[in-house]
Amino acid sequence: MDLSLQDFLSLPEAERVPYIKDHAILYAQQFDRESLDYHCRLADTCRKMHKTGEGADFLSSLLRHWTALNFFVQPSSRTFLSFNSAQSMLGMRRASVRDINISSMSKGETLTDSIRTFISYVDLVVMRHGDSDAGAVAYWIATKARKIVINGEERPIPIVSGGSGTKQHPTQSLLDIYTLEKSFEQIGGIDGKTIMLVGDLKRGRTVRSLSYLMKNYNGVELVFAAPEQYQMQDDILHFLDTHHVPWRMVDSLSAAVADVDAIYMTRIQDEWDDLAPGTHEAASDEFCFKLEHLRNMKPTACLLHPLPKRDEIEEAVDYADDDRVVYWRQERNGMWMRVAIIAKLFGVGEAILERA
Ligand code: NCD
Repeated sequence: MDLSLQDFLSLPEAERVPYIKDHAILYAQQFDRESLDYHCRLADTCRKMHKTGEGADFLSSLLRHWTALNFFVQPSSRTFLSFNSAQSMLGMRRASVRDINISSMSKGETLTDSIRTFISYVDLVVMRHGDSDAGAVAYWIATKARKIVINGEERPIPIVSGGSGTKQHPTQSLLDIYTLEKSFEQIGGIDGKTIMLVGDLKRGRTVRSLSYLMKNYNGVELVFAAPEQYQMQDDILHFLDTHHVPWRMVDSLSAAVADVDAIYMTRIQDEWDDLAPGTHEAASDEFCFKLEHLRNMKPTACLLHPLPKRDEIEEAVDYADDDRVVYWRQERNGMWMRVAIIAKLFGVGEAILERA
């Protein structure tokens, strides 16, 4: 990296991508169709392989000599646990930092010094941070610090975003793609499908990352269903226009529920607001998914949610015993996708595919 940190951070995301190569996962714009298909195939292979004792033993023999740090200083259940489980399935040693108040950052240590320190001890940093640029900072530092050798190539230790501010959640969007591909297995995959994103599209990093990935599929259309103040932002709309991905906005879920192939619900991201402790903004009725919507969905459609959810999905839908409700499967798919992501980063993807 021949740029100063300041110059690197002054670049828009898309222009940072060539500097990142495949040494970190920070932005959904890093993925092309080939790499998405590869990750889905690898995730599926790991899922099947882990079903047998020999397969599970093989997986857990692969990365035994590497140590991962899960640096999560924003709340997390699924992303933290699924990364942790994925690392353990691959045999990695694991450490975590989850609370700034009991790390040296509470003594005034800068993020850059903290990351530089982590790199002294571990070989992979998965991080969730409220600052959208924290991952880019970590990557820049990794290019200046201790290197590791993977398949004969010396490289910076991998930095993986597990959610960056309100902007990006690239590994979530990979697991969403995996879930959509699996749901559409019998009907030609994601190509040609219409996908409705519902809820807080302005501050929801999952829907932003997923929207970027849609440029990789043919004939996909996006429908944005959100209260006006939470509608999808211009930077994403502009990206979609540039890549010829058609989109439209609707002012209620009902307006398109019967026409679309997938519905992706999200929660109002009110942790960014100044609310009284313990209070939450209720989802407005037009953007709540109810049993009647399930009845109106296409027979081949699917209902996703990155979780955690609140009142935006009626509780009865959870246990409606309907195969179109896939968010619990989506949650588990996240673990397999994260096995695939780490395996690929550490150069063992091919060994897994060859053994299968
Ligand atoms: C999401 C996140 O953190 O952005 N959660 C997750 O990782 N599955 C969605 C959310 O918090 O609403």
